[in-house]
Formats: sequence, C-alpha cells, structure tokens
Amino acid sequence: MKYLFPEKFWWGSAASGPQTEGAAMIDGRKESMWDFWYSQNPECFHHGVGPTHTSDFYHRFKEDIQLMKETGHNSFRTSIQWSRLIPNGTGEVNEKAVDFYNQVIDELLANDIEPFINLYHFDMPMCMQEIGGWENRNVIDAYVNYATTCFRLFGGRVKYWFTFNEPIVPVEASYLYDLHYPNVIDFKRAAIVAHHTIVAHAKAVEAFRKLELAGKIGIILNLTPSYPRSEDKEDRAAAHIADVFFNRSFLDPVTKGVYPRELVEILQARELLPPVEADDLEVIRNNPIDILGVNYYQPRRVKAKETQESENAPFMPEHLFDPYIMPGRKINPHRGWEIAEEVIYDIMIDIRDNYDNIPFFISENGMGVEGEEKFRNDAGYIEDDYRIEFVREHLQWVHKGIQEGANCLGYHMWTFMDNWSWTNAYKNRYGFVEVDLKNSLKRTVKKSGRWYKQLAENNGF
Ligand code: BG6
Repeated sequence: MKYLFPEKFWWGSAASGPQTEGAAMIDGRKESMWDFWYSQNPECFHHGVGPTHTSDFYHRFKEDIQLMKETGHNSFRTSIQWSRLIPNGTGEVNEKAVDFYNQVIDELLANDIEPFINLYHFDMPMCMQEIGGWENRNVIDAYVNYATTCFRLFGGRVKYWFTFNEPIVPVEASYLYDLHYPNVIDFKRAAIVAHHTIVAHAKAVEAFRKLELAGKIGIILNLTPSYPRSEDKEDRAAAHIADVFFNRSFLDPVTKGVYPRELVEILQARELLPPVEADDLEVIRNNPIDILGVNYYQPRRVKAKETQESENAPFMPEHLFDPYIMPGRKINPHRGWEIAEEVIYDIMIDIRDNYDNIPFFISENGMGVEGEEKFRNDAGYIEDDYRIEFVREHLQWVHKGIQEGANCLGYHMWTFMDNWSWTNAYKNRYGFVEVDLKNSLKRTVKKSGRWYKQLAENNGF
C-alpha cells in the first residue's frame, strides 16, 4: 500500500440535521428560518424543493447507520437542530427531540461509530431570527443556553463537539451577497453578525469547559486559501487581504483568541467595527478550541483591483481585491468550483506552522454532481469513479501533510447520503449513498461507498 494513514484515523462523513432529518414540523419541532423562507419564496430553491422532507433520517436513522457501517465509517458528524430541541429558542426542552437524538447517538455508539455533534449548521430558529438573529445579543445568550443543554443531555456519550459549521457562510450569504434569508446587503450588519457569532462560540466553549466533561470542543471552518494571480506585490497584497477577510477573520479568534490586527485596522478606518461589549474580547481570548474541523472545497484566486469603486459605494470586501479566474483551472462544472487538490496540503502546513500545529481533521471535502443516475450500472448502483478519483487525489496530499508533521486526525467526506442542500436542494449529489427521490427515498450504496469501506479497512490505499 502506498498511502498508509496513522492508527485510529477517522474515516467517515459529515451531514447536518436540517439537510437530512426531514420530519420538519412534527413531534414538536418549530420553524427554522429555512422553513419560513421556503414558505414565503419556494422559487428561491432549486426546482422548488424545500427543507420539509429531506432524506427522512428522522425515521430511517437505524437503516442509515447500518449503511454507514457498510461504507466503512468509524465516525460520523451530524448536527442537532436547535429548532427541534428547544422549539421556542429558549425555555422548554422538547422531550421527543431528546429521545430522537439519544437514539441516534446510542445507535452510532452501538455500531462503533464515534458521533461528532455540531450545534449550528446555518439553521437559526425562526423565532430567534424574528428578534434579529445574530444581530441581537439576546440570541447569543439563547444559543449558549441551547449549547449547554446539549452538553448536559448528551455530553456523557458525545466526545467531539463543534459549536458551528462554517460560521462565515451565514455572514456572507445572509448579510453580504443576497444568497440566503434575510437577504440583507450591509457590511456593517454582517460584521455585527460575525462578531456575535464568535462571542457565542467562545461562550459555548467556556460553558462546555465549566461542565468538566471528558470530551473535546471545536469549530468547523471552511478554509479557502487565497492565491495571487502573480508574484507582483499588488497581487500578493490583494490575496493577503482576501485571506484576512475570509479565513483569518474566524480562524485567528477561535485559535489564538484575537482578531487579525489588519482586519481591525481596515474596519476601524472605515468606521465599520461592530460594537464590542466589555468582556467580549476576554471571553474570546480565554477560550481557544481543542480541535479544528477544516472544510475544504476550493481555493480563492485573487488579483489586485483593476478599477476603483466610487467613494460612496457601500463597503464590500471586494473593494480591496478582484477575483481572478485562472486560465486552465480544473473545475467541477456542476458546482462551478475549482478542484485544486494540493491546496488541502497548503492548509495543513499553514496550521502546522502558523497555528501551533493544533489537532485538526478534514471535516468536509467532496464533489457535487448533477444527474448521477446516468452512471447507474447493470447491478443497479451508481459508478461514481470521478468521486473515487477526487477523494484519492485529495488523500494523497493529506497523506503528504501528515508525513510532514501536520496533526491531522481524520478525513470526513461531504456527505454520507445525497441530501438537501439549501437553495441547491437536491441538484448536486454528494453522497456515498444514493437517495432515490423518485423511489420512496430508496438508499443504494454507490461505488465510492464500497471503495471507501476498503479504504477504511486498510487504513489507506
Ligand atoms: C458545505 C456545507 O459548505 O457545502 C453543506 O457545509 C453543503 O451544508 C455543502 O451542503 C454543499 O453545498 P452546495 O451549495 O454545493 O449544495
């Protein structure tokens, strides 16, 4: 075998509650902002498919966990839905939800699959969004109470906790780029949302530590390393600033306990710094994470600005750099994202050298493909060789990073089974397991899932 991974390496995949559970409004659950947005604007979702049903993990989790076994999982991440556990955002805990999450955790453990639990995957309860979502500090308190409730209820059995998945996405998508509800475009409000999210994260870490549970707590960040068009000073400066905005803005406070100085200076000069309360910076400083999850899909390529914005234009990060489309780049045409496998290695070396080599794992990596049913073979399963190749090529770089000392503990694919993906709904399929929407959500393991089992059993390839 050419690429052997360290002992006890985590092989598995990631998913989220809102994208898989379905059972939207039953057993006491209340609306998240996704349910609400869908009820108002179904046309914003691919083919008008909303979050109501998704893949019905709520009812089929036992069958699904068997399929995790069949596909070699020794670990699996999902998220608890705040809107299911505490349907009013604060106050009463929904016992049916406690039952459900207990059963999922127990079933995973009974099958030797380590549960990794995330607390927030873009899914603000609508009642919390109505009072301003992350712009309102009361939502920070409500979130910390929700997180503490989860630690108390499940912390005896769950050893790996994550406060947020890709916390920059709600900042960008909901407050800058008009992609998600509430479709605000306002940098100042985005900065408040970002800061409050980081404070909520740090306070949840603090609450976890106070309970003295035997486990680790971290956060999952989507890292998109920035590469300059050329080695020219201006291009490199532009890439550096993009990196500060889109990677270091979250990575530095959660690991080093401080915001990047340049980010603060840029925002201060433009009077865009969010209001900071007395103990915010202290709680951030005192609560670095134990473990980092790295979601990696694509790099960001950047060049120096070619035209200056008008002075009166409301600020956007893109006033400081231009995106650059690299000729000849490899691309996944279904998603429009560049595929650059070696970048995963650059992330690992960056964490090794600039972040004290903290323990981390690849918490998402994957390839969304539309129309996969055309690859179905005579035996009835999808032959997704492109996905196998995608994983192998990334893993070669992960292996190299580990050989060179990066503290990488595992690799999780996005995702276990085809799932509903926000406004893209079921357009692109990412799973090891097909979910047939036309055939009662029938699950069939794809070729990649069969291959992944061998990979996990051999601990390499
Ligand atoms: C990840 C998210 O960034 O991308 C997932 O954590 C999401 O929730 C996945 O499903 C794929 O996204 P998309 O937009 O390609 O469907």
